[in-house]
Amino acid sequence: MAQAVRVAVTGAAGRVANSLIVRIASGEVFGPDVPVILQLLELPVAMKTLEGILYELQDCAFPTLQDVIITDDANRAFEGCNWAILVGAAPRGPGEQRSDLIRKNGPIFVEQGRVLARRAASDVRILVVGNPCNTNCLIAWRNGRDIPAERWHAMTRLDHNRAVYALAAKANVPVTAVTCMTIWGNHSNTQYPDFTNARINGRPATEVITDRQWLETVFVPQCQERGKFIIDTTKVSSSFSAANGAIDHIKSLVRGTPSGDWTSAALVSRGEYGVPEGIVFGYPVTSRGDGCWQIVEGLKLDEFGQQKFQITLQELIKERDVVQDLLPS
Ligand code: NAI
Repeated sequence: MAQAVRVAVTGAAGRVANSLIVRIASGEVFGPDVPVILQLLELPVAMKTLEGILYELQDCAFPTLQDVIITDDANRAFEGCNWAILVGAAPRGPGEQRSDLIRKNGPIFVEQGRVLARRAASDVRILVVGNPCNTNCLIAWRNGRDIPAERWHAMTRLDHNRAVYALAAKANVPVTAVTCMTIWGNHSNTQYPDFTNARINGRPATEVITDRQWLETVFVPQCQERGKFIIDTTKVSSSFSAANGAIDHIKSLVRGTPSGDWTSAALVSRGEYGVPEGIVFGYPVTSRGDGCWQIVEGLKLDEFGQQKFQITLQELIKERDVVQDLLPS
């Protein structure tokens, strides 16, 4: 058997992690021959719930699940981890603005960035899911800079999957017919789901869906507001679709993206597409299955797209400015 992969998950007693953990434990992500050790982190107040999750995991008797560690100590949770999925964050409270949430969650990611740099395995990859995930990822990376910048990712894969579904439904084709989708920018309601570079059955999506007004005024806002729509409908935020986004993100890194297609992830910018260096920005990405992303270069945006791109970029710049004091140089 291969060497065990150690996967740390924070917020492990929460709703997203609940769906995530079981799929990782089952062998679905790393394969049937790779043992998994789960290292689950929670706040002290949620340890009893986490204990229950541990028992349920044991009762699944997954052949791939070698061990489960539950802890409220980040040092223990991140010790030797090869993957860290940072889900744990405080939710937005009643009347709170996005900037309040950023300030509230920022310190969590200062601490977790530092601990990851000290404790994680030398090949660690980090996926930040807890919101606001782009800026939380920025904070964690800047505080854990011993880990190379390209190993820090924030999740836009749920947005990507939502956009793929929406185009497929409109064109009345299976989701597999939709390729080359990109979520540019922030995982927020400023994100730009780029229908102009997307393809449906290999043809430009705009040739298959010729109703440009629908694309601009229904598709784009629907993707941007989908999270809120789910909350309004179910009274709780997306959980298993979010977990599925994280699973898809890691699978793409472990197995690679199909040739002729790409996916979406937010990465620390090195200036690609004119984004200031260091902003964690959603890009089109490919992977060869070696744990690394490559940003797809040379895509063109029309005037509508450029405008949307600038809006989401400006939001991320503002978010960075709000947490400037949490970003060591
Ligand atoms: P939840 O409230 O059910 O679970 C969050 C868990 O995190 C709680 O159990 C809490 O005790 C724990 N937690 C809080 N601070 C922690 C810390 N410092 N260390 C360890 N654990 C900590 O929330 P849910 O629904 O699971 O969502 C988790 C996060 O994922 C939220 O920030 C949510 O906004 C975000 N999210 C992101 C998505 C994306 O596409 N990027 C999609 C859906 C959710």
